[in-house]
Order: sequence, then C-alpha cells, then structure tokens
Amino acid sequence: MSNDKNFASLYQNLMTKKTLSNIFLENQTVFLSCDFNVPLTFLNGEYVVNDDTRIKASFETIDYLLEKNAKIVIFSHLGRIKSESDKKKNSLWAVYKYFEKNTNYNISFFPLHKGKEFENQIKNLKSKEILLLENTRYLDLENEQESKNNPELAKYWASLCDVFVGNSFGLSHRKHCSNYGIPTFQKNNCLGFLMEKELFALEKITSNPKKPYYVLMGGAKVSDKIKIINNLIEKVDKLLIGGKMAYTFIYSLGFEVGKSGHEEDQVEYCKNLLKTHLDKIILPIDFKVIDDFRDDKPKIVSYKEIPSDHMGLDIGPLTIKLFENNLSDAQTIAINGPVGVFEFENFSLGTKEVFSYVSEMKNCFTFVGGGDSAFACNKFNLQDKMSFISTGGGASLQYLEGKTLPGVDIICEK
Ligand code: 3PG
Repeated sequence: MSNDKNFASLYQNLMTKKTLSNIFLENQTVFLSCDFNVPLTFLNGEYVVNDDTRIKASFETIDYLLEKNAKIVIFSHLGRIKSESDKKKNSLWAVYKYFEKNTNYNISFFPLHKGKEFENQIKNLKSKEILLLENTRYLDLENEQESKNNPELAKYWASLCDVFVGNSFGLSHRKHCSNYGIPTFQKNNCLGFLMEKELFALEKITSNPKKPYYVLMGGAKVSDKIKIINNLIEKVDKLLIGGKMAYTFIYSLGFEVGKSGHEEDQVEYCKNLLKTHLDKIILPIDFKVIDDFRDDKPKIVSYKEIPSDHMGLDIGPLTIKLFENNLSDAQTIAINGPVGVFEFENFSLGTKEVFSYVSEMKNCFTFVGGGDSAFACNKFNLQDKMSFISTGGGASLQYLEGKTLPGVDIICEK
C-alpha cells in the first residue's frame, strides 16, 4: 500500500472486495474488532458507559453477522493499562452491562484472552451468540502484547477464528494485536460496515470534495494541526480558524494576544501560510476574553485589542456572523475542532452557533472529526443533523494528514 496522498481512492477500489457481503458467515466463528474505548463514569458503586456513540456505531455490523448466523467474539481495548491499578476503571464489564441493558443480543462476557478455558468458550459458542472479551490492553501488562502486536499472540488468535472483521475505526491508526496482528495471519478477513462508512466519509472530504469546500478548524495547538493544514490547504476553498490556535495566527499578524497562549515557535509557520494563502484563510475579528481561565462573564474585544492581562476563550459575535457568511455557499464542510472553550457556559456560544449553522445547511456534506467536536455536537444536540460524525479521534486526524491507516491497510492490502 502506498503512503501517498491518493491512497483514499486506492482504498475505495480495494474496499469493495473486502466487504462483509463477500464473506461466507453461516455458522462461522467471527473475531470482530471494535473500538469500545468509551468514557465511563463511576455511579452508585459501579462504572457505567457515559457516551455510547462508539457502541451504537457497531450495531449494524453485529446485526448483519447475527442475521447470517455467525458466532461472534468481540475484541476491544478501553483506556490505557500501565499497571494492575488501571484495570478496574478500564474494564469492558461496563460495556457488557450496557449491552445487557440496551440490546436483545445473546451476549456473555469472558475475562481471559488465552488458555484452555478461553479456547473452550470459543469452541462452545453457538450461532447467533456473542462473546465480549475483557479489555485486550490488559495483556499490555505482559510485555505489551496487545499494543506492541505480539506475533505469537496474533498467530494464536488468528488460528481460533474462521473470519476476522475489522470494524475498530477509532483504533485503525494503531498496530495492535487485535486489529492488525489477527488479520496479518487470518487472511479470510474484511472491513466492517462502520469502517467502510468512515472511509467513504473521509474520502468525500479528502479526494474529490464537492466545491466550494471549506474547513473549519479549531483546537488548542497549531503544531498539532500543521500536517492537516498542509495536506488540505490546496484542496480547500477556505480555511476558517478558531479555537486557541487562532491566537498564534493573530499574533503572527503583529497583534498582542495577552494571556491567550500563542505558540512562539509556530509564528513563522503562520506568517508564511498567511502570505501564501491569504485569500483562503479566514481569521476571527473579535473575541470573548477574560482575565483568567474560568467560566465567568467575558468582555468582547476586537482582535486588535486583546488586553495584555486577558485571554481569549471564544470567538465574538462579529466572528460568528463572519464565519456563517463565509460558510453559506458550501457544498462540503469539514469541522475539525471547536472554536472556543464550549465546556464553559460563558464561552460556548461561538461553537454552538457556528456548529448549529453548519448542521442546518442544505445540499452540503458536513463532516465532523475529532473527539472534542463530536462531543460538542452531542452537547448541542446536533449529532443527527450532521452528515457524518467520525467515531475516530486520532484515526481521522491521521487520515486527514494524508497518511494511511495500518488497521485498514492490512485488510485492504493488494
Ligand atoms: C481512540 O480513542 O482514539 C482510540 O481508541 C485509540 O486509543 P489510544 O489513543 O489510547 O490508543
């Protein structure tokens, strides 16, 4: 698989062959890789799922496998396991309880990933039954077997299934044993429906977007987004910049940004970008500022007048209008990052208004990527109004940077 920027179309061609509909599933033992790395909260003495977006996103594939009378074993990680004490707060038991409560699936939970008992569980599985395994990263306590893709474990797991289905899009930028190791050895493999949908959506904004195509970018650091900007700037018609990263751009224009926190080492980059692509880049013209990082009544100031003892935490009302006007004729919009600290009531309006505006647009493909932006959509109840909200944080970023995804490559390899 090449690592160039045209990989998306390459995936498309291969994806059609590596789809579930081409695989014989009747009575087969299917190892299904999912990303159930979901936030948990401790409530009434137990951990419960706090956001079920990633779980629900797997239902279509699970339903299809059940309809075809497969036996399903689900592999997923949750959080990061560095020591014994990380286990309890990252157990997939909470996800199992979620399934029990919210679905009619015939599902059971199993705490082990290898050994005789584990093998028997798999052997005794009947068609239409699901076995959810404990967090695969528990195995990281044994020489990082999951995260470092231990080849022995990969071969062992691969030998126990008839089919491997890769559906863990959120994990696809990683080479783990459960998403990369198994399909290295189990060649009877394919992509799950979620994976296909994510790739098609990303394809729409990277390969051949309908024009005009605008990207709304926010988030904390310019340095985190440089590769994405460089990869997208030639393809987009406009790049609208909000969030904390906007202050480095404003600073690079020669204005003070007070305590907003610009990145000194990115100023040159921003200057150059503005010089070469001035016609494409839209920056905020006013901000909501406050003297400290707290949720309290802000002042609204022009971008030229941020007081030295204040920090900007949201875009101002003129910028909301400016952004909306600039987005109004779009046929494709990709959102990557909120435009302010939307978790604070006093600084949520910019993100709420601009995201809502985008969600109402007609005849426009609206793509939302990155965990914070997806969270903001949920908070403002826009999740059903966007064309596509990616379940992948790091994975969708990596794709937007123009790199391939190992978890997809290994399945779609030529
Ligand atoms: C994610 O949430 O981005 C994936 O599940 C990967 O998790 P990780 O960043 O801990 O590897």
